[in-house]
Amino acid sequence: MSGFEVPVGLIKKSNLTPHLPLKFDYRRFGQYGGPHITELREFQAAANQVVDLQARLLEGKAASLKDKETVMTGWKTERPFTSAAELGAIQNAAEKLSAEIDDFWSIGIGGSFLGIKATIEAVRGSLEFFNLLFPEQRGGTPRIFFLGSNMDPAYTARVLEIMAGQRVGGNVISKSGDTVEPAIAFALIQKIMENSYPPQEAVKRIVAITDKAKGSLRKLVNEKGYVSFVVPENVGGRFSVTSPVGLFALAVAGVDIKEFIAGAKWAEEQVRNQPFEKNISMLRAVMRYVAHKYWGKKIELASTGVFDLRSTTAWMEQLGPESEGKNGEGLWIAPEYYTEKAHANGQMIQQGERIFIETILMLENPGVDVVIPGKGTPVEYLDGKSLHFANSAFIEGLRDAHHEGGIPTMSYSLPQLDAFSLGMFFQYEMNAIALSGLLLGQNPFIQPGVQQYKEVANIRSGKPGTEEKARAMQAAESKLDPKFLI
Ligand code: PA5
Repeated sequence: MSGFEVPVGLIKKSNLTPHLPLKFDYRRFGQYGGPHITELREFQAAANQVVDLQARLLEGKAASLKDKETVMTGWKTERPFTSAAELGAIQNAAEKLSAEIDDFWSIGIGGSFLGIKATIEAVRGSLEFFNLLFPEQRGGTPRIFFLGSNMDPAYTARVLEIMAGQRVGGNVISKSGDTVEPAIAFALIQKIMENSYPPQEAVKRIVAITDKAKGSLRKLVNEKGYVSFVVPENVGGRFSVTSPVGLFALAVAGVDIKEFIAGAKWAEEQVRNQPFEKNISMLRAVMRYVAHKYWGKKIELASTGVFDLRSTTAWMEQLGPESEGKNGEGLWIAPEYYTEKAHANGQMIQQGERIFIETILMLENPGVDVVIPGKGTPVEYLDGKSLHFANSAFIEGLRDAHHEGGIPTMSYSLPQLDAFSLGMFFQYEMNAIALSGLLLGQNPFIQPGVQQYKEVANIRSGKPGTEEKARAMQAAESKLDPKFLI
């Protein structure tokens, strides 16, 4: 024996069955010992309201659906119904690039980043492992790196150094075309690409995804002649994973984008056609709303015991708070990875202030499992059982303990980690969050707070045209009491 050898039969792989529906369980959504949420008067009132709100989303006229003059419901009324021609064009461009490269960079932040990472990690596996595989183990898919979602020099330098010497290409995504973090990352990458390849070759390896006419990135596309796809005007960043924003990078990553869209379309049809009692998005919206508004819950734990779904809970962390965190209201979403976090903040969840609700992402078929050789060990009772069995039992145990500790709990159960399931989940969840924001009386499709942060950051970093505001900012800073600076 020359080294570490995994015994035959220890790791078991199983086939996936296409097009299984997702399940939803809200039997434990009540204050422990109190009535189930559906028995509350407030629930019934909100249930009547949410049916009208769903009609309002489809009608697309209300002011609460608009960003300036544009009705922002394209992710629901047009996008999951993407034409075969559009999908084909995206797939072709992705295959062309993929065939030329070893490493793929994707530049973007917020909605131009999180949905892509979530889907790739769920379907292809978490990138810290995926990128360690040999090319043949990756099935020809390039290694994948994200830039522009932070400005950390060590992170950026590491990614650039890891890609050095490889055949490289990527996509830069920004709806506005002017967000500073991705603009800096692209300034770096563009320079390096132009130094590394002859001009036409560099252009061929860069794909831009941005507004059809506005912003600095579109201007650059026109100047340089990059292949580009359009971020639809009526789709906001956090609702854009089913648009070219998500689809191009997913296709490069070997995710079946036709299946992904088929899943989203299937869920959209369920939301439109199922009665309230069976309507996952409507039920979820009403429960979140009532728990926040009438039970005073402030935080929704978005939990999972599935390693490859951690980024999906990070996507949820953006979708909810950026959509409904307005006018002093809205549920915070806190991703939780179990059972790791059960040994950290689990104490607070179990016995701290009762401000939580919990939504758990469960998984029915992980596609791979590991047998526990328990004989003669402290876990003898698990001998021959699988890790998925133990993991699910622990997550269900946590769910029950949290419910007993006073946390209303609901769960999504994904049938498996494939493109169809992810598309289905995203579409259900985008509907649920849009509806719960509307129930709160918010416009879920704007993010004035984020715009405010972008403006202040521009002033601080010396963007031309902000000089007067910078002087006012400095004057305000000079009034801060120096005795509080140690
Ligand atoms: O959901 C949103 O609108 C935001 O999170 C944006 O996606 C994010 O700010 C990035 O914006 P842009 O794509 O314009 O660079």
